[in-house]
Amino acid sequence: MQIGFLTCPGTMPGSPTRRADAFEHDVQINAIRPALEVRGGKLSEIDWRAPVEAFAGCNLVLIGTPWDYQDDERAFLAKLDALESAGILLCNSAATVRWNARKTYLRDLAERGVATIPTLWVEQPSAADIARAMEEFGCDAIVAKRQVGAGAEGQSIHHRQSPDAGWAMHQPAMIQPYLPQIASEGEMSFLFIDGKFSHALVKRPAAGDYRVQSLYGGTEEAMVPASPDLDAAQAVVDAIPFETPLYARIDMVRGEDGALLLMEAELIEPYLYPRQGPELGPMLAEAIARRIGNK
Ligand SMILES: Nc1ncnc2c1ncn2[C@@H]1O[C@H](COP(=O)(O)OP(=O)(O)O)[C@@H](O)[C@H]1O
Ligand SMILES: [Mg+2]
Repeated sequence: MQIGFLTCPGTMPGSPTRRADAFEHDVQINAIRPALEVRGGKLSEIDWRAPVEAFAGCNLVLIGTPWDYQDDERAFLAKLDALESAGILLCNSAATVRWNARKTYLRDLAERGVATIPTLWVEQPSAADIARAMEEFGCDAIVAKRQVGAGAEGQSIHHRQSPDAGWAMHQPAMIQPYLPQIASEGEMSFLFIDGKFSHALVKRPAAGDYRVQSLYGGTEEAMVPASPDLDAAQAVVDAIPFETPLYARIDMVRGEDGALLLMEAELIEPYLYPRQGPELGPMLAEAIARRIGNK
């Protein structure tokens, strides 16, 4: 059983251009590799830009940590198609990735009954759209973010008392009410392997910030979810309009009425937080072996 794990120069061990947060790649590899080895599997890290021939012999390829794919999205999607055409089982599938790369997938999930954050979808928003969103949502603080993006890049928060008349975004955006629960309770992540719950954690922003990412001082802690919260996360996984993903990270935040709302369903290259879920590696290895066996 030969498993490929896609990387990029920013995450590949030994690369001269490794990112400061590439330790997350190592944590993930150290959780998955030994669990695969117990089952006689072998995990190889391969740059996603390597030619398809470099994947010869792989039964299954995990998308892993190709954290720069946004810079070269077309080539990335073409490589995923090429891997599938070569008969390699890709997890998650190229079709799932294409759908998940644009946050408009949230609309599809909302149509399937998932509770999402109310959102205005605007191609090139200006300050007038922020004012309109405040009226529409009846709130005093608004978050504007990219439809295609990650790591809170290009994101901004707007307050009614301090409007910025010159503000604009020059790409497709999504505008949401700011949910204050992000700063009190935090954002919850639920990890699922083959559609089954693995573990959960809560991510909290640094004091004075609302972004939970470690880059902005956010911290994370394992947690045992209450059953209505777990049910809400499971309902998101069950609503994904493709085959059950091998791995999924469901990020949620609590709305005003106390129910969890979907922030993001991460199906491409999410960090799976193995430190908060020691069973992750064995669960993933078992699911991989099952998929290869069923092929
Ligand atoms: N509507 C919102 N209310 C409060 N905080 C938000 C909201 N939208 C985003 N955030 C904060 O910004 C972070 C990044 O937003 P997110 O939608 O997860 O995009 P990405 O992680 O892809 O950059 C979230 O983790 C959260 O901390
Ligand atoms: Mg996020």
